Amino acid sequence: MTAHSSIDQQFDVLIIGSGAAGLSLALRLADYASVAVISKNTLQEGSTYYAQGGISAVLKPTDSFDSHIKDTLNAGVGLCDPEAVKFTVEHAPENIQWLIDLGVPFTTDQHRDGKRDFHLTREGGHSHRRVIHAADATGQALSGTLVNHARHHHNITLFENHIAIDVITGKKLKQKDNRVYGAYILNRDSEAVVTFKSRFVVLATGGANKVYLYTSNPDGSTGDGIAIAWRAGAEVANMEFMQFHPTCLYHPEAKSFLITEAVRGEGGKLLLPNGEQFMHRFDSRGELAPRDIVARAIDHEMKRLGTEFIHLDISHKPAAFIKSHFPTIHKRCLEFGYDMTKEPIPVVPAAHYTCGGVKTDLNGSTNIKGLYAIGETACTGLHGANRMASNSLLECLVFAESACNDILQQLKDKTTLPAIPYWDESQVTDSDEEVVVTHNWHELRQFMWDYVGIVRTDKRLARAKRRVNLLLNEIDEYYGNFKVTNDLIELRNLAVVADLIIQSAIARKESRGLHYSLDYPEASTRDEAKNTVLNPNKIHNSET
Ligand code: FAD
Ligand code: SIN
Repeated sequence: MTAHSSIDQQFDVLIIGSGAAGLSLALRLADYASVAVISKNTLQEGSTYYAQGGISAVLKPTDSFDSHIKDTLNAGVGLCDPEAVKFTVEHAPENIQWLIDLGVPFTTDQHRDGKRDFHLTREGGHSHRRVIHAADATGQALSGTLVNHARHHHNITLFENHIAIDVITGKKLKQKDNRVYGAYILNRDSEAVVTFKSRFVVLATGGANKVYLYTSNPDGSTGDGIAIAWRAGAEVANMEFMQFHPTCLYHPEAKSFLITEAVRGEGGKLLLPNGEQFMHRFDSRGELAPRDIVARAIDHEMKRLGTEFIHLDISHKPAAFIKSHFPTIHKRCLEFGYDMTKEPIPVVPAAHYTCGGVKTDLNGSTNIKGLYAIGETACTGLHGANRMASNSLLECLVFAESACNDILQQLKDKTTLPAIPYWDESQVTDSDEEVVVTHNWHELRQFMWDYVGIVRTDKRLARAKRRVNLLLNEIDEYYGNFKVTNDLIELRNLAVVADLIIQSAIARKESRGLHYSLDYPEASTRDEAKNTVLNPNKIHNSET
């Protein structure tokens, strides 16, 4: 065993993550700077690839920026940053055009006059059709196009199967200035820890939804960027707002396969086991109310009736329409024995999106110099207490563009990099008890589902806090004694993020958006709505 991994790499910009956020930024930067993109799996294995519904943007004269802004603010229940919303909405059309120019094959529609135009679908919370998509596999089309361009750009170096452990900061190097200088990255194939040096590090690592037992997300959504930023001293905001998607396919082998909200946008109905529609009892917008309302209504009805699922039915639409709009979902449902053109399909809510994250400004910049966070890892203020459908991919694109402009401005300043020590493995050995990692991983996801899910109470949160404290101590001890592995890195991050979610949920003494507490069922009206901002250098504080 080598005591040190004495390999290093140096780039102008180090981007951790190869989803919509990471690759858009890499492509925008690469004509002006050398860029490394790190991905812990293959380039496409992130939430982006699995995105279904599409990307929201005002693309028709019948729609307006004001309307997109108003819908986003409504969905966010008083906690969106109006500036971030305006900024995102106004930059949306140019970013969609950028994707069209790159060649993303969005679905088109033929009009009566024979002209073709992009087809726009509808989703919850949107008062207009404004979601551009590639049938029901928008993510595959988007990710495929971005990866293809990135693979062919001479200034982008791609590191697949490499997982970031931690960023290197001035604070860690005992310097006065706490700026970022790079990151330690584990090469999962060679098992060596490589030192990547860079004055700009961008966390584009996606969400943390794997913290829950049932999720629509791929396995890698372990909140790595949020945990890394937190350990480095960055502020983290609004972590209590974990979004549950109302409709994932209910089947033991389906691994929470998502059924896009666009199915409801095109007329799909939610039904109780007796065939009764129920959403109008909870919200006048019915099936197209924002996600927090629909998921909570389903949870309520399932608990009331003691059922394990409810139904989603679009079989009243022509079979040809269903097959052409939802080919992936139609095929996948058939594999599990459900023909959505003929019958309702069983669905349940599952953890889907992390609205909070690393607190950033409109350039994706954190409170640590040179450290950026973009995409689902970030909390830019766009989503508030509940993200509106299809605003997420949009945020990835818009903030990749603004982070690029900001980094290019600062690239001229050539601060020299200090001496950075190699990763030291002289004090650790190979693990003799991998079972600890697997056990803790399962335990964490189970108690988060049971105690910190769609409906919370003070008592359940206190239970979760006691358990996460135990796990954090156990994992810390394990981490200090054994060589790092991919699973250990992810577990360590999941535990940190679970703790941030629990702390934030405990701090919010009201119900708002995605945070619903039986002990405080109303939204606070005492003063203005507040964000929950956690600062690793203080215990915790809130701000307006
Ligand atoms: P991701 O696409 O998740 O990419 C994260 C990247 O970081 C991956 O490459 C991963 O390997 C890498 N990574 C993570 N940790 C590390 C580490 N430690 N070291 C190295 N690499 C690391 N949103 C919409 O707007 N519209 C939709 O239609 C839509 N549909 C969705 C459907 C599904 C099933 C899911 C799960 C999500 C959907 N969303 C949708 C949400 C949206 O897809 C995500 O929020 C968005 O894709 C996030 O992009 P990202 O680039 O931030 O992260
Ligand atoms: C979906 O297609 O329902 C997911 C859209 C989103 O998460 O924005």
